[in-house]
Amino acid sequence: MIKEDRLNSWNEQLQGKSPQEVIAFFLGYFKERIALSTSMGLEDQVLTHMISKIDTKTKFFTLDTGRLFPQTYDLIDLTAKKYKIKIEVFFPDAADVEKMVKEKGINLFYDSIENRKLCCHVRKIKPLLRATRNLDAWITGLRHEQAVTRKNLKLVEWDNINKLVKINPLIDWTEKQVWDYVNRYNVPVNPLHKKGFASIGCQPCTRAIEPGEDVRAGRWWWENPETKECGLHQR
Ligand code: ADX
Ligand code: SF4
Repeated sequence: MIKEDRLNSWNEQLQGKSPQEVIAFFLGYFKERIALSTSMGLEDQVLTHMISKIDTKTKFFTLDTGRLFPQTYDLIDLTAKKYKIKIEVFFPDAADVEKMVKEKGINLFYDSIENRKLCCHVRKIKPLLRATRNLDAWITGLRHEQAVTRKNLKLVEWDNINKLVKINPLIDWTEKQVWDYVNRYNVPVNPLHKKGFASIGCQPCTRAIEPGEDVRAGRWWWENPETKECGLHQR
């Protein structure tokens, strides 16, 4: 475990630095024991572009829940080829999925919050533990602006569930900054964004949003904003 004072000093030392400087610092520090966790979302695509400019040998992984949009699979393929990187894909345990579906049904997540959390646990949280087993740190695309559940996050945090340092280089970025970067560097993004899908997760749990709606309003839209975390980022 990294001590609290180390995290504090990193947060102080890196305050005001660009995301690229933050990334370069931690890639150098953790070397082969750090990875970008990418859902192929807008922020993750920005980070992938930044990382690939620094070191194409960096580890990238994605959690394939088995319920992703076809466009997301295409983007995994396109991104890996464009940047000449390897994106490791982690799947849920087949026996876990079969048991869950047998007991609760194929679309269990609409029936209750407990079922939804169970599905996220089986399809994301458990695979994340495997994906990060040999790591000391993970990089994510979290931003303060995204949700009420994210407004207190720091640039560098201790992730007590996965026992890892968690680095959020875009934590202070606005949505506009993300889009400006995407447009400036022609970063490939999910075509669903142009169809009103702001934040994209699994197909049955994501819908397009109306103009003026919160960016995460289309994720688990039947739940309260306070419960809308799949558990990957709960503290
Ligand atoms: S979620 O918890 O609601 O699903 P969100 O889609 O906002 O998260 O993504 C936040 C960050 O979590 C992403 O930038 C990425 O680092 C990580 N993440 C989310 N989903 C995945 C996934 N399927 N595979 C890998 N990383 C993911
Ligand atoms: Fe299951 Fe929906 Fe969670 Fe995906 S987002 S793992 S489909 S509950």
